[in-house]
Amino acid sequence: GRDRINIAIDGPAGAGKSTVARKVAETLNYIYIDTGAMYRAVTLSALNNGIKADDKEALSRHAESIDITLMPSEAGQVVRLNGEDVTTAIRSREVTLHVSQVSAVERVRLRLVAMQRQLAHNKGVVMDGRDIGSHVLPGAELKVFLTASVEERALRRFKELNGRDGISLEQLEREIAERDRKDQEREISPLVCAPDAIVLDSTSMTIDEVADNIVNLSRTKLAEAK
Ligand code: CDP
Ligand code: CDP
Repeated sequence: GRDRINIAIDGPAGAGKSTVARKVAETLNYIYIDTGAMYRAVTLSALNNGIKADDKEALSRHAESIDITLMPSEAGQVVRLNGEDVTTAIRSREVTLHVSQVSAVERVRLRLVAMQRQLAHNKGVVMDGRDIGSHVLPGAELKVFLTASVEERALRRFKELNGRDGISLEQLEREIAERDRKDQEREISPLVCAPDAIVLDSTSMTIDEVADNIVNLSRTKLAEAK
């Protein structure tokens, strides 16, 4: 309708996309959709079924056979894989290390993008990912490209992990940089800043500053859409 818009938030790992998107959705009473969680769920399922991350045909067939659902919740979003709650399991280091390879497979993306477009059909959605503004929702009324220095992004993740995974800050920074590189260099819908996206560098911004900024931008876009 004319009283709601779609908001696309893209950017590299640890830029603050999901934290900020969740806040913006809460403020506007919109639905938050974390598309990275979908790619993580496919990756988790493939790993659990012994499918190799380089077997594109098997990954494609697998992605087409599983059932992934996202449900808004108090904490943001509950992710279900064939009915099972995998919200925590999809954040494992194992999944993180393989997700970029799985998400580079064309048929995996086709399946998930179709779901994402369906979810955004009625507007009033804040969707975060890598290719939302550039590919999934090219008509989104507001597109934000959220970024921050790789050092800051690694530090944020390091604090968030709080010792889990037993990984050093330096190693984390290398792994984040490597995942960004893979996401930027893949052939199909790579991580890019859409030409009409507003770039926000959150390196020295708080979560609330970024969220308020996006809410204000959305109010402007909403007024324009009317
Ligand atoms: O939260 P974090 O930044 O660690 O990553 P995520 O948003 O959970 O996304 C995990 C991975 O999924 C990314 O590194 C991409 O490889 C892939 N992804 C994608 O290809 N397209 C999207 N729209 C969202 C995520
Ligand atoms: O979704 P994405 O990978 O872009 O990042 P995130 O998971 O939302 O944020 C990564 C971490 O950075 C979280 O622990 C946030 O609380 C934190 N963060 C921050 O400290 N300052 C910001 N401006 C944004 C996020």
